[in-house]
Amino acid sequence: MSKPTLTTESGAPVADNQNSATAGVGGPLLIQDQHLLEKLARFNRERIPERVVHARGSGAYGHFEVTDDVTGYTRAAFLDTIGKRTEVFLRFSTVADSLGGADAVRDPRGFALKFYTEEGNYDLVGNNTPVFFIKDPIKFPDFIHSQKRDPFTGRQEADNVWDFWAHAPEATHQITWLMGDRGIPASYRHMNGYGSHTYQWTNAEGEAFFVKYHFKTNQGIRCLSSEQGAELAGKDANSHQTDLLEAIERGVHPSWTLYVQVMPAAEAADYRFNPFDLTKVWPHADYPLQRVGRLVLDRNPDNVFAEVEQAAFSPNNFVPGIGPSPDKMLQGRLFAYADAHRYRLGVNHTQLAVNAPRATTAENYGRDGLMAANGQGRRAKNYEPNSYGGPVQTDQPLAAPFAVNGHTGTHAAPAHTKDDDFFQAGELYRLMSEDEKKRLVANIAGGLSQVTRDDVVEKNLAHFHAADPDYGRRVEEAVRELREG
Ligand code: HEM
Repeated sequence: MSKPTLTTESGAPVADNQNSATAGVGGPLLIQDQHLLEKLARFNRERIPERVVHARGSGAYGHFEVTDDVTGYTRAAFLDTIGKRTEVFLRFSTVADSLGGADAVRDPRGFALKFYTEEGNYDLVGNNTPVFFIKDPIKFPDFIHSQKRDPFTGRQEADNVWDFWAHAPEATHQITWLMGDRGIPASYRHMNGYGSHTYQWTNAEGEAFFVKYHFKTNQGIRCLSSEQGAELAGKDANSHQTDLLEAIERGVHPSWTLYVQVMPAAEAADYRFNPFDLTKVWPHADYPLQRVGRLVLDRNPDNVFAEVEQAAFSPNNFVPGIGPSPDKMLQGRLFAYADAHRYRLGVNHTQLAVNAPRATTAENYGRDGLMAANGQGRRAKNYEPNSYGGPVQTDQPLAAPFAVNGHTGTHAAPAHTKDDDFFQAGELYRLMSEDEKKRLVANIAGGLSQVTRDDVVEKNLAHFHAADPDYGRRVEEAVRELREG
């Protein structure tokens, strides 16, 4: 079989890809060796900044198929007909470690989904946990600093991790979740995904609903114990990547069933929990799960760098009929992601194949910048309004407005009747079997007992006591044994 000719980046044939050019046999290199200079210079620029969180990840393409009628709640076109399919790209990730970390660690998992809809791309950037550690975005950089590497030791430090949590009682619910059995998924296929935040849906009549998304794995939940995780992470740092890649290559296509909890907008003000507090769930007895459709992953990306590393998901990519809720965390994220993308990938990242719309085209007056490709509007006018037939606005709001009142200021999220930092953490603990409780307590004590300062240990113990007296007592005893032993 004849092979194509090797060329330089400008397309000229390469004569020798094994020996660089020298001044005489055994002499110094020649600066005229364009192929050598280009190869070395390009190699130096192969890396881009890794994601500041969720650096390690795996992605796959597939589709979402509507199985149930939700047109009473949203006018989103991709959800308007039973049987309708929309192409998707999903990137899974771990959160805290850098690109060189391992997959089988105790950490939340990212579940970032891009729907390539006919009304533009809709990004739902969630986790495998229904809640989160904090409820105000102003704490996010401090939280992440405390969980990633210490500036002096260059390692994750139990002192920092638990010092942050000592000052964040609202994290007790998510800590209970993370230290429990679901804290180390066996693979990306064997875990659920959640939108986590509350979002707003608006139907064709303009009625608003608040919704929470639940993607339930059809592979069944499978998790690893701390010991199994440590062993696997040491043996195969890429265990989740291997599992997903090989399953799809074998034709075993993982799937999830999407359910939503739906709250009529008028019920939000008086619900017993603040529905916009990301540290809380809505018990299913209050708002039952309603099925929406099925998500299937059936195609691996051809190039991990181009399609996974350069993938950009932003919670502010909505489509008509879906919008944000007033959740402060979500509101902060509406800014943070696209800003991260402009730094990490550049202002024209939306033109990359994995990020560009697929079922429609982007028509706007954004122009120029680094790496502007695809002719960028070519000869068309680059201002609006214009008299030359350029794209125009619809005058149709994407989602319903919500009422606001009061004064501007740095307010804490309002507490509803049943709101405190501990009740739902205690409920989760009380739901667990005796064996689950034992493993939860051992996992917490394993980390907390490494903390060097007594006051930090005490503050954390107080949170578990407040969640449930039995929970607090057991953690306290286990920590004491480990610290004294
Ligand atoms: C205010 C709080 C938060 C801020 C400021 C924040 C910020 C960020 C930033 C800057 C990135 C990197 C984006 C990139 O470089 O492409 C990121 C990634 C990510 N975040 Fe957050 N985040 C927050 C909370 C959350 C929450 C609550 C969730 C889940 C419910 C979440 C899920 C994710 C996921 C899944 C990714 C990876 C996306 C991908 O695969 O490319 N984040 N976050």
